[in-house]
Amino acid sequence: MDLSRPVEELTEGEAAAELEFLAKEIARHDIAYHTKDAPEISDAEYDALRRRNDVLEASFPHLIRQDSPSKRVGAGVAEGFAKVTHRVPMLSLNNAFSDEDVADFVARGHRFFEKDAGLKLAFTAEPKIDGLSASLRYEKGRFVQGATRGDGEVGEDITANLKTIRDIPQQLQGDGWPDEIEIRGEVYMSHADFEALKARSAAEGGQEYVNPRNTAAGSLRQKDPEITRSRNLKFFAYAWGYTSAPFAETQFEAVRKFGEWGFVINPLMIRTEGIEEMLVQYRRIEEQRATLGYDIDGVVYKLDNLALQQRWGFVARAPRWAIAHKFPAELAWTRLEAIDIQVGRTGALSPVARLQPVTVGGVVVTNATLHNEDYIAGRDSQGNPIRDGKDIRVGDWVQVYRAGDVIPKVADVDLSKRPAESHPYVFPDVCPACGSPAVQEFNEKTGKLDAVRRCTGDLICPAQAVEQLKHFVSRDALDIDGLGEKQIAAFYEDGRIMRPADIFTFAARDARSEKRLKDQDGWGDQSAEKLFAAIEARRQPELDRLIFALGIRHVGEGNAALLARTFGTFGQFEAVAAGAAGGDESARAQLMNIDGIGETVVNSVIRFFSNARNKQAVDDLLRQIAPLEYVVASAGESPVVGKTVVFTGSLEKLTRAEAKAMAERLGAKVAGSVSAKTDLVVAGPGAGSKLKKAEELGIETLDEDGWLELVGAQ
Ligand code: IVH
Repeated sequence: MDLSRPVEELTEGEAAAELEFLAKEIARHDIAYHTKDAPEISDAEYDALRRRNDVLEASFPHLIRQDSPSKRVGAGVAEGFAKVTHRVPMLSLNNAFSDEDVADFVARGHRFFEKDAGLKLAFTAEPKIDGLSASLRYEKGRFVQGATRGDGEVGEDITANLKTIRDIPQQLQGDGWPDEIEIRGEVYMSHADFEALKARSAAEGGQEYVNPRNTAAGSLRQKDPEITRSRNLKFFAYAWGYTSAPFAETQFEAVRKFGEWGFVINPLMIRTEGIEEMLVQYRRIEEQRATLGYDIDGVVYKLDNLALQQRWGFVARAPRWAIAHKFPAELAWTRLEAIDIQVGRTGALSPVARLQPVTVGGVVVTNATLHNEDYIAGRDSQGNPIRDGKDIRVGDWVQVYRAGDVIPKVADVDLSKRPAESHPYVFPDVCPACGSPAVQEFNEKTGKLDAVRRCTGDLICPAQAVEQLKHFVSRDALDIDGLGEKQIAAFYEDGRIMRPADIFTFAARDARSEKRLKDQDGWGDQSAEKLFAAIEARRQPELDRLIFALGIRHVGEGNAALLARTFGTFGQFEAVAAGAAGGDESARAQLMNIDGIGETVVNSVIRFFSNARNKQAVDDLLRQIAPLEYVVASAGESPVVGKTVVFTGSLEKLTRAEAKAMAERLGAKVAGSVSAKTDLVVAGPGAGSKLKKAEELGIETLDEDGWLELVGAQ
């Protein structure tokens, strides 16, 4: 195939044939390079193939193939960085899993140096950072090349990405550094940055990130260094490779020098005199593990004296003079026995993995989160693979991941152990708590469906009921005196109030009951009477408050007021909403036409009224109450036009903001203090100096009810 012809000359058929050839050819070289470690062509030739592919795709975007090399390995992650052969191999560490293993390690050292009479062996102890190691080459103090560990012998050149890490100096500071030195250490992501990235991604409907380590790895392998920069990776320097001259005599001194040269070194590194101190430091670091703000998975001990390090030497690919004392694993494999769906207080359906009990990081884990249905399916909402696209099935062997005190999660699946008879998990489309439809909402911001499914049985779902009831009586909703969150929780618990309508039938039922409220703990004749009177007083709620009280998703105070103003009566609002729910397009259009109300809100209102049981709950409620009409006196007719009004003291029915908005809507001016210019003072209980001043100045004063009456809102 002639890959040198100008792209403009190609016919569609020729371009398609070339793209097919390139997809196969590049894939073949990727395998030769990455998997077999036996490249057949030079990096430059490989790059030329990819460039040709890119150019063709830019000219013929409709011919981009599913298996295009430009799509592989997830968005933005580059393939085929140049290779870097480490001048000194990057070693790994042998592990110790118990205090005895560490004691054996120290004993081996003493045996090795037996002939050196009276020799004391000192060891450094420092956290083992759970990130990725990198080797940074400095020539005459300038950072010239950075590479991943790779297989220890050959890594990848990620200089451009490493240059974006602020902990890595471009130029070494101080003095005493050899002309050439490879500084080694760990690139990692802090918990704070990981959480922030996750939150950003969730808000944008982006991909899921499993843990800080994998995310740091992905961030380092980006084609675009600006993406790496935005991830705010960090770096601890703790070792070195090739050096053109010796620069220290001990491990401790060497790392101290890294600090002086401008690197960040771990503050928990100490020098110990032997096994007892080593283990004390291990416990100290383990205790701090949860609050460090980054993941560590053990403590590394290194023989301090560099001359002795050299004498003790290496075995296979690890030094004899160092060992990693691992914390009990935070990862474990176990069987997924079932997937349960929990319904949260806001109606979100959350899948929970029921696991064969397994110890993860010293804690027995039986449950883990599965996030949402996309996570189970192995694809995020944009179709990007999660866990390489592996889905999670009941019966699978799954890896459980636990970091600090975070809820454990299922991080991976072992497909080789998947039972033959397993089948993909089907996420329920009805709420397990109440049987109402559970739906994924369309998110206007992201233009995609939300990954989270929600129950639509807002008012009748037992999982949501208590929260809904608390909302119903809350301050900006029905605001019933003496009926707060605590009372609602108790009345729900004992079955007295299960639905909003029950609030208004409470007194009558209580009168017939054998277990009268007044006889219950914490209640008496007076308090029970007072509560019933307060409920009675709210049988004529304001329309906007009532609409808000229903707890329809996305219908907050502002939208409730818009709906109330538009429809005027509850009957009218319900008729249009129910009409739209029944498929009446003109009713839907009526909702959509309301200035300030968007599709998300309209869909949510429709969904609420599409649920027959929600509608039933509303109708039951309406048999008990008589919502007020929403009347707005036109400014011309209002008695307060042009008047200056001051509100003081506490208001019971209106919030301050509402009172102010109401007055302004009616053409009044609202002032903060009383003066000769004030026309009217509305004083609630607790009013002090302002009321006094008004009286002194002979200004008209009203209480809240008087005000509502004056403006025709009562
Ligand atoms: S020293 C010659 N110190 O652990 C010794 N390694 O399991 C080279 N690691 O590849 C390593 N924190 O990525 C050393 N404080 C630390 C470390 C550390 C994390 C990683 C490093 C290495 C792996 C070996």
